[in-house]
Amino acid sequence: MMKKILVIHGPNLDLLGQREPSIYGRKTLKEINDELKRLARKRRVALKIVQSNHEGEIVDSIGKSRNKFDALLINPAAYTHTSVAIRDAIAASGILTVEVHLSNIYSREKFRQKSLISPVVKGTILGFGYKSYLLGLEALVDLLDAK
Ligand code: DQA
Repeated sequence: MMKKILVIHGPNLDLLGQREPSIYGRKTLKEINDELKRLARKRRVALKIVQSNHEGEIVDSIGKSRNKFDALLINPAAYTHTSVAIRDAIAASGILTVEVHLSNIYSREKFRQKSLISPVVKGTILGFGYKSYLLGLEALVDLLDAK
């Protein structure tokens, strides 16, 4: 059976391309998703990709992912720094998770320099622009292949 990976993009990532391009790059979310789909085809995994601006909706998606997906790739965006609920959802689901960020949050404002999510994920990739997503997906597929 083909392995299935859920990709969650958090708040304001629907605005990529026009949103602070010097920080987040010029690629739109659709272009990033197309790159992810291309890599998924190459690595023979199935992807479901969602974007949400709502914390509770993201919590629901993670909760439901448990029996449906083999792994989770998530950019929690601003919720990275605030959401105990998303952190708890990941911890509760026990799903293999990689956290990604376009920017290097540790080189930015103080309020971004803490991730509530990082302690409950397998690993975090950040600072490589949209490539953080591709590297994160590669890492997850390698882990699933090794299982
Ligand atoms: C982000 C970093 C967050 O601090 C910010 O709120 C985002 C995007 C990133 O991918 O660099 O929306 O997660």
